Amino acid sequence: MKTRSFVLAAFATAGLAMASVPALAQPIVIKFSHVVAENTPKGQGAIKFKELAEKKLPGKVDVQLFPSSQLFGDAKELEALLLGDVQLIAPSLSKFDRYTKKIQVFDLPFLFPNPEALDCFQDGPAGLALLDAMTRQGIKGLGYWHNGMKQLSSNKDQLKRPEDVNGLKFRIQASDVLEAQFRAVGANPQKMAFSEVYQALQTGVVDGQENTWSNIFSQKFFEVQKTIAETNHGVLDYMVITNAKWWDGLPADIRKGLTEAMNEATKFSNNMASEFDKRDRKLIADAGKAKIQALSAEDLAAWRKTMEPVWKKFESGIGIDLIKAAQKGCSK
Ligand code: LMR
Repeated sequence: MKTRSFVLAAFATAGLAMASVPALAQPIVIKFSHVVAENTPKGQGAIKFKELAEKKLPGKVDVQLFPSSQLFGDAKELEALLLGDVQLIAPSLSKFDRYTKKIQVFDLPFLFPNPEALDCFQDGPAGLALLDAMTRQGIKGLGYWHNGMKQLSSNKDQLKRPEDVNGLKFRIQASDVLEAQFRAVGANPQKMAFSEVYQALQTGVVDGQENTWSNIFSQKFFEVQKTIAETNHGVLDYMVITNAKWWDGLPADIRKGLTEAMNEATKFSNNMASEFDKRDRKLIADAGKAKIQALSAEDLAAWRKTMEPVWKKFESGIGIDLIKAAQKGCSK
């Protein structure tokens, strides 16, 4: 039988041993919130980032994903990031109006002819500098993620020329450039959160909207629209952003691992974007619900001519040099 002093000695030894084992550190929780479905380039990019970050930093980070506006929708996500309620978000470049006018460059209609030109601009010095355009407001850009070119859709049979949208109501993202773009074609723009668009289209609160093939497919907009015109009139891309103070306060090894994970996830997501763009256009065409309206060169020229004057209005806020750098695209 063990004596009381033996038991006490055993506890004391165990206590000593335990004291010499460092307490297990809790992983850093990183909440990544976004507004689209998982079955989209951004949704897949976020999943890839989680996978890579947790593999590179085992036990040190716990990346929690909140797709489809589950945690925060358009109206609240930027505020939540600044308050520290979420650590990563990836709003579309159209949603930074309140924070910097420079990023409005991405919304200028018909500025980028294709996603390759956009890539060249984003990877060049002017594009990279924009990742730091909001540091004064406490926002740090970690990278650009692609979605694709925007198409126009409406609940009418005819959607070939600007006059076909005259007087129609269009849902837009919270962007003054997009508001001016729709006013230029004689339509009535209405700023609205992404999560509300399907119902607004279904109930006729708005007649149409503009978006990429992957958003039109994953949100089922094609089921409540009659025509989708292949205008490719603008881009819809994202900036993955974080709270600058939180980021700068991370231990250096964590920041390094997260940066690597973000760079790899960016490549992955951008590859997915071009795949999803083709795939979802085909799925929409095959579904046979909304008609895909092909446009002639003359039709496209009419859209361009009506929308392009919008550039002038925003030129001074954006900066002419930035517009020129964007126009240069991939040319040397
Ligand atoms: C939209 O609001 O239409 C898009 O910005 C949604 C998104 O994140 O792709």
